[in-house]
Amino acid sequence: MTWEDLERAAQNCTRCALYETRTKLVFGVGVRDADVMFVGEGPGENEDLQGEPFVGRGGQLLDTMLTLIDLDRRRNVYIANIVKCRPPKNRDPLGTEQEACIGWLRAQMDLIKPKIVVCLGRIAATVLIKPDFKITREHGQFFDINGVQYMALYHPAALLRDPRKKPETFDDLKALQAKIRELCPGTYTR
Ligand code: URA
Ligand code: SF4
Repeated sequence: MTWEDLERAAQNCTRCALYETRTKLVFGVGVRDADVMFVGEGPGENEDLQGEPFVGRGGQLLDTMLTLIDLDRRRNVYIANIVKCRPPKNRDPLGTEQEACIGWLRAQMDLIKPKIVVCLGRIAATVLIKPDFKITREHGQFFDINGVQYMALYHPAALLRDPRKKPETFDDLKALQAKIRELCPGTYTR
């Protein structure tokens, strides 16, 4: 399956009820052969309107975080979400919705073949790392899953709500940068 076929199929998805209320499906943004991938929870209002992940206030903070370690959504990473359509009123995506949608993300990951996957927030970490992931205790730690390095950061929205978490997140970003230099230095020469 090519990237274009995959995106076209996803754009028509009706696998869960979220298709009924979406304005735009949010497939993802970035470079398709990136070694580093970021995964959030699901689109919010701005993302639903624009069809791109992380474009609201949280998205601005994410871009600042990326810039701190020389990453850029248009140059050297790929960014997607666990669910591709906005849950009404930004509620957490239901387990059934996550299960209906995860196949699209898995297919994206099969094509991108990232070496490092960064989960943004608890929900992505519980889906991609382990069901009982504890974000307050386990953010910033690396988990090897089938040869791919997974880590989680606090979600940008959580950092906006509680700026006291920012210093820890800065440390996590520095650890991420070191891991990128070790495993995929090409990320920094694009
Ligand atoms: N929050 C997310 O988890 N993903 C987005 O795309 C936007 C906000
Ligand atoms: Fe399909 Fe995912 Fe959108 Fe549900 S959230 S309709 S599974 S793309």
